[in-house]
Amino acid sequence: MANVAVVGTQWGDEGKGRFVDFLATGADVVVRYQGGNNAGHTVEIGSEQYKLHLVPSGIFNPRTLSILAHGTVIDPVSLAAEMDELAGRGLDMSGLRVSLRAQVVLPHHRALDALGEAARGDADIGTTRRGIGPAYMDKAERSGIRICDLIDDTVFESKLRRVMDEKNRIITRVYDGEPLAVEPILDEYRACAQRIRPYVTDTIWLLHERIEAGDNVLFEGAQGTLLDLDVGTYPYVTSSHPIAGGVCVGAGVGPAAIHSVAGVVKAYTTRVGKGPFVTELLDETGQWIREKGHEYGATTGRPRRCGWLDAVILRFAARVNGLTHLAVSRMDTLGGIDRVKICTGYRRGGVVTDRFPARWEELGQYEPVYEELPGWTDQISDVTRYDELPEAARLYLERIEELTGVPVAMIGVGARRDQAVVRCDLYR
Ligand code: IMP
Repeated sequence: MANVAVVGTQWGDEGKGRFVDFLATGADVVVRYQGGNNAGHTVEIGSEQYKLHLVPSGIFNPRTLSILAHGTVIDPVSLAAEMDELAGRGLDMSGLRVSLRAQVVLPHHRALDALGEAARGDADIGTTRRGIGPAYMDKAERSGIRICDLIDDTVFESKLRRVMDEKNRIITRVYDGEPLAVEPILDEYRACAQRIRPYVTDTIWLLHERIEAGDNVLFEGAQGTLLDLDVGTYPYVTSSHPIAGGVCVGAGVGPAAIHSVAGVVKAYTTRVGKGPFVTELLDETGQWIREKGHEYGATTGRPRRCGWLDAVILRFAARVNGLTHLAVSRMDTLGGIDRVKICTGYRRGGVVTDRFPARWEELGQYEPVYEELPGWTDQISDVTRYDELPEAARLYLERIEELTGVPVAMIGVGARRDQAVVRCDLYR
């Protein structure tokens, strides 16, 4: 048995979904430990495409438990809709489990997310407006409503009335917004509670039982390292901890319970939302990557900003996550360019550093130092073995290994679950 964490090494959207989905086929338990429906995993199985926002990727495997642990924030309306959609497409929901301790995202969280962003004007964060930040704020303020409250009608009503009273004062008096009526929220959330109730349990005990029984557990990270609340490009971050350390807090396991940490790296870099991006390509190449890779957000549909691979970011991610392996996605997308570039350092005033800075303002002052490598063909989607990859693609991957000090265990050569080169079994 082994417990594996999969995390994003960049700004999210690294293509975690395809590796998580692949690794989920060998897992007995798949756990989401942070974030909420701000995430969007696209998974392709055969000719079918699925977009997951909250439901863990284990759901495609009927014998796998799919746990939404207490570190997540759950919008029950969104979860119920996602469950209905997946069930409508023939997927078995019986393996889903939702933590009693997880926080509930409520309509005032979404309203305050949007009002807060509007009030920031040009300094907005570019959030997904799913209410994620305000939900984590309430958790930290200790006024949040949890799933255990939601499934108890009386408790939910009394907590909601108290909370709404205060939130409506903030909405109207601070933001000049429209107050939210409590009754429709009660009705809608009660209906969703009914739908979710059979899946709710104490996931900490469940998870430990399964670990003790020798199961393979996959911890599925959403977003990415640079969106982490503490180590990311603050304030252009999300409000949770996507890094490997977030697994301990958000799922309720000790650090030694995580046997390997795979960092997913997109073969180039993308970012949605605002904030500096050293290797951003504002030219035709950036546009070419965006169109070829369909780089538009799975959750919001926003175009993603695209740029060359940034090894300064990867070295940082390798350290803060304790990466034991890398999984490189989208090698097929980057194929078809004559020469490709990797950023190996940041230059400012004649001085070069390979340390990712703490202040985003500093990041905005850096110029990338590039290394150029030969490109490879994009006709690699049928490749299943490492030595079948074009020499230039292998050189690129080996250079990433050198720059990060972390071996590449998996390589994505196409969108489908089976279009991957797998060099080692992470559960061994
Ligand atoms: P929030 O998570 O909605 O509060 O958004 C905060 C920042 O995280 C924004 O820049 C979002 O674009 C970004 N973000 C949140 N979730 C994702 C994701 O799944 N992929 C990429 N970016 C994300």
